[in-house]
Amino acid sequence: MCEIIAIANQKGGVGKTTTAVNLSASLAYAKKKVLLIDFDPQANATTSLGLRRNEIEFDIYHVLMGSKKLSEIIHKTDMKNLFIAPSNIGLVGIEKEFYNKKNTRRDLLLKNKIEEIRTQYDFIIIDSPPALGPLTINALSAANSVIIPIQCEFFALEGLAQLLSTIKVLRDSSNPNLVIRGFLPTMYSSQNNLSKQVLADLIQHFESSLFKKGRAKDCVMVPRSIKLAESPSFGKPILLYDQRSNGSMAYQDLAKAILKGEASGKA
Ligand SMILES: Nc1ncnc2c1ncn2[C@@H]1O[C@H](COP(=O)(O)OP(=O)(O)OP(=O)(O)O)[C@@H](O)[C@H]1O
Ligand SMILES: [Mg+2]
Repeated sequence: MCEIIAIANQKGGVGKTTTAVNLSASLAYAKKKVLLIDFDPQANATTSLGLRRNEIEFDIYHVLMGSKKLSEIIHKTDMKNLFIAPSNIGLVGIEKEFYNKKNTRRDLLLKNKIEEIRTQYDFIIIDSPPALGPLTINALSAANSVIIPIQCEFFALEGLAQLLSTIKVLRDSSNPNLVIRGFLPTMYSSQNNLSKQVLADLIQHFESSLFKKGRAKDCVMVPRSIKLAESPSFGKPILLYDQRSNGSMAYQDLAKAILKGEASGKA
């Protein structure tokens, strides 16, 4: 059974792409066949896996427009089990096209495109843009579950209520089985009191929705890590850049929690 996981938070720069790339790589390392769909016009996930613009003739925009099948745009990566469906800046044009596409369920476009290939993968991870617009709605409508990265900084929980209410609306309409897999604290710094405070708030309000780390009581959280910030510039997931770094270990812990079937869905 393929699980489709959207990584979403309309706040910018909270670690969505870093999570999408490194969770995908960690699941692939655990011998799962994984497709990462870059669904953000910024195309950061595409670049993070070392794909150069001149290597990409067709991208997810062409799939949504119907000129290519999803299977026709998928690229291999440096990891055997990891594949990517790239994005490009042209994807910003899709919103206008959505308005022109009468008589189609615009919110279900990605879901329908994934149908053709879903049985070929164990996991499909979707990286979404920093907005609650049509792209994120498509990602959430296509997904079985969602992971919400929360940056351990000031204003971390701002906007969360809006995201949760969007998820609720989708559950009541197009995607009744959508589960919140969990919240993932990112860029945690133990030196920083604010980081500790945000983590304490998350534990207080959403403890059952945090990923458990092995048998320990601790939850999985991603530390602030220079290695994690550097690895995209080498076009590599952290596993291929510095496998033993604490950032890499955190994403491997996340993959393990997911493989154990941790799904809260209570938030
Ligand atoms: N744990 C971390 N430690 C240090 N730097 C990080 C960490 N996670 C992400 N970063 C860096 O922070 C920046 C934002 O991260 P990322 O691109 O993953 O966020 P995003 O939510 O996808 O952003 P956007 O909303 O623009 O798509 C990037 O430069 C990234 O390399
Ligand atoms: Mg991003």
